Amino acid sequence: MLLAFETSCDETSAALAHHGRVLASVVASQVRLHAEYGGVVPELAAREHLRNLLPVARAALGQANVGPAQVEAVAATRGPGLPGALLVGFKAAQAVAFVLRRPFLGIHHHEAHLFSPWIQGQPPTAAFSEFEPNVSLIASGGHTMLVHLESESHHRLLGSTVDDAAGECFDKVGKLLGLPYPGGPEIDRLAQGGNAAAFSFPRPMLNEANDDFSFSGLKTSVRYFLRDRPGFCGDPQRLRDLAASVQAAIVEVLVTKTLRAARRLGVGCVTASGGVACNRALRHGLAGACSGHGLRLRLADPSLCTDNAAMIGVVAERQLMRRAETTSPTAEILPNWPLD
Ligand code: KG4
Ligand code: ZN
Repeated sequence: MLLAFETSCDETSAALAHHGRVLASVVASQVRLHAEYGGVVPELAAREHLRNLLPVARAALGQANVGPAQVEAVAATRGPGLPGALLVGFKAAQAVAFVLRRPFLGIHHHEAHLFSPWIQGQPPTAAFSEFEPNVSLIASGGHTMLVHLESESHHRLLGSTVDDAAGECFDKVGKLLGLPYPGGPEIDRLAQGGNAAAFSFPRPMLNEANDDFSFSGLKTSVRYFLRDRPGFCGDPQRLRDLAASVQAAIVEVLVTKTLRAARRLGVGCVTASGGVACNRALRHGLAGACSGHGLRLRLADPSLCTDNAAMIGVVAERQLMRRAETTSPTAEILPNWPLD
């Protein structure tokens, strides 16, 4: 049984993994705390992790009905992430491993996202299913990247955003439209009743021959669009149309570039994870494009798209099985840990 912690940003999470199964997963989200400020406040996030970490760990142990003595290994996110936030979960996990005299593993946050689409079902029966080579899209509030997973132990970063992340673009556009933070889920909801072809927004870097993304220009074009149309957001239908049109631009870029990379590299499978992978238009767009090209699609369950310790636990267990490699109990966090 492996006890895992995740505290890289604004979710405090603990989970228990055992032989590829997620037996328990508990997430305490800080989204309401940060909503007041329109974004994550690093110092508040760290303090909140400190408050929530032990209750969340106790809840995970309770959910799986196990005691600390049954924990055979401990893991935590080592990076990348907010330094103060990472520090709380990483050092607490090292202390738990030390006290229980168990091996400790520091896990790369994005590596965990890459494997989250392979966890199927809900705890306590959620299990890791058979892996196949794939191209993986990670789209969250802090990152947008495409990764080629040639095997379970070999991955290569293909491209990433040169400025804003896709989730950041959703959130900044949400702010311009006067929507609550985070804007992503709000735009998704509004777009359901809107016409995606009502307004035309740029599709940045869509036709460039690389796997990189850029979203800051799209946000700026929405700002100019609204500046030239005072009072535009006062009309609920126009607001829905605008949300649908902006969402369509983001989704088209993500879907097109992911599919292009998958076809170029000749993989049979595409996966997607990260908070933005909750987006219904993105899930629908990827499903349509993959079925059109005979590619299998694995989308992380929405509960595993946003940050969680279940994905940390599953990856840590597999690393332990494969390489029997652990992290020093005195190792430090790596807030800027690159994926490659
Ligand atoms: O992965 P995540 O929880 O945190 C980071 O590591 O950043 O992702 C949060 C991001 C936010 O930008 C949020 O607006 C976005 O994911 N998001 C969505 C949706 N749900 C969450 N964006 C678009 N549509 C959604 N349904
Ligand atoms: Zn994340």
